[in-house]
Amino acid sequence: MSVASSDIIICPMTAAELPQIIAIERLSYPLPWSEQHFLDELSSRVALPLVALDAEGAVLGYICAMQVLDEGHILNVAVAPEARGKGIGRLLCERVLADCRAADAAFVSLEVRVSNHSAIELYQRIGFVECGRRKRYYENGEDAIMMEFIY
Ligand SMILES: CC(C)(COP(=O)(O)OP(=O)(O)OC[C@H]1O[C@@H](n2cnc3c(N)ncnc32)[C@H](O)[C@@H]1OP(=O)(O)O)[C@@H](O)C(=O)NCCC(=O)NCCS
Repeated sequence: MSVASSDIIICPMTAAELPQIIAIERLSYPLPWSEQHFLDELSSRVALPLVALDAEGAVLGYICAMQVLDEGHILNVAVAPEARGKGIGRLLCERVLADCRAADAAFVSLEVRVSNHSAIELYQRIGFVECGRRKRYYENGEDAIMMEFIY
């Protein structure tokens, strides 16, 4: 089932949403970002943190990205477990791709665990391609796949 984008609002992240974001973060990753990590994103000049909200203002997902010169980079994207598979991850990533393009990025890069099949599928479906691997990049010794989207 897909959610019409008119049912979802994508807007800049605010500190008021952090309790919901941190709850989703903890359900999404074995080593979740801390509240301070998100606060740093909110205060960074180069960060582009966004949330996906439902019609009542509840957080369904979020994305943290940054842009330096002509390179955009996706640092974190997660969707609440009960809201997955409805197109929200795609909406968030496509919004970052549009924002980076509007800010003259030449490409957007990211790293993803080799075992994270749902994220790899999402990135491939929106046009990211593998451009390398980082050996033992993660704390458990897992490799990272490096991917990029070139405009
Ligand atoms: C990865 C994640 C953000 C995907 O969000 P989502 O809202 O469920 O993804 P979408 O519904 O937008 O799916 C986008 C595309 O990816 C594909 N996809 C998503 N999850 C998939 C899965 N589990 N298996 C196969 N394909 C999948 C969909 O088929 C869809 O393709 P389509 O748009 O062409 O139909 C979500 O699973 C999540 O939060 N995971 C935990 C956090 C995480 O691992 N983040 C990525 C870190 S690099």
